[in-house]
Amino acid sequence: MKVSKLTGSIGAEILDIDISKDLSDSVITDIRETLLAHKVIFFREQDLTPEQQISFTKRFGEISTSPVYKTLKEYPQIMPVVKEVTDTDIIGDTWHTDETFQQTPPMGSLLYAREIPSVGGDTLWANLGLAFERLSDGMKEKLLTMKAIHSNDFLTANAKRRNSTRSTKLREDAPVMQSLHPVVRTHDETQEKILFVNQPFTFAFEGMTREESLPLLTYLYQMSAKPEMTCRFKWRKGSLAFWDNRCTLHYACNDYRGERREMHRITVEGTKPQ
Ligand code: SIN
Repeated sequence: MKVSKLTGSIGAEILDIDISKDLSDSVITDIRETLLAHKVIFFREQDLTPEQQISFTKRFGEISTSPVYKTLKEYPQIMPVVKEVTDTDIIGDTWHTDETFQQTPPMGSLLYAREIPSVGGDTLWANLGLAFERLSDGMKEKLLTMKAIHSNDFLTANAKRRNSTRSTKLREDAPVMQSLHPVVRTHDETQEKILFVNQPFTFAFEGMTREESLPLLTYLYQMSAKPEMTCRFKWRKGSLAFWDNRCTLHYACNDYRGERREMHRITVEGTKPQ
C-alpha cells in the first residue's frame, strides 16, 4: 500500500487501492494503522455503491446512525450531506468533532463524494493530539483534571430554522442529549493524550457556568485549529475521507454558492472517552 502524506502534521492519501473489493484482513489492518498514524486518510477515484461503502465501513466496527440528522430511507446507515444549488447554508462549517454530545461519540466517519462543485467545498481537519502536546506543562496539568459537558442543544434548539436553509436535514424530534467527557481523553488505541473540546458541542466545564468556561474554551479552540496543525482536502467525485473522530476536528468550507454538492457519510461506533 502506497501512502502519501498531505502535510507535516495530519492527513495521508492511500494510493493504488480499490476499496469496493473484498479486502483481506491484513489490508484492513494496514488501513487502520495508517488511520492511527495520520488521523485522517483519503482514497481517490473510488466507484462505490451504497452497499460497498457500508461493507467497507463495517470492516472497522459497528455502524452508528446519527441521532440528530435524517438518514436515507433505503439505507438508514447513510447520512446524506447535501447542498442544493438554491441552499445558502451547509452543515459542518465550524470546527467540530462529530456528535460529542453522545456518551459514546463515533470512533470514525467515512465521507464519500458523489457530486462536487466545480471549485470549492473543501474540508479541513485538525490534529487534537498535537493541539494538546503544544500547550504549556502548567495548562496540560490543569486540563488533565477537568471534565466538560457536551450538548446537542446548539443543533436541536434551532432545528426548524436550520432546516429552512439547508438540505441536510435535522430530525425535528431529536432528543436533547448531554454527556460529561474528560477535557483530555486518552486515545483508546494509541494512548495519545487528546484535547477533547469543540466549539458547537462543548457547553461548559464541569462545575462552572458557560460564561466562566468560555474564555478558556475559546483559547483552546484557537490553539487547536492553528494552520500548522491542519490539512485541507480538495475533493473530486469518488474521493473518500476516513477520519479518526477521537482525535480530530473538521471544518466544511461553504464557498460554492449556486453549485451542488452531495456526500454520503457513515459513522463507526466509538467507546466512552476516558
Ligand atoms: C461533516 O461535518 O461531517 C461534513 C463535512 C463536509 O461536508 O465536508
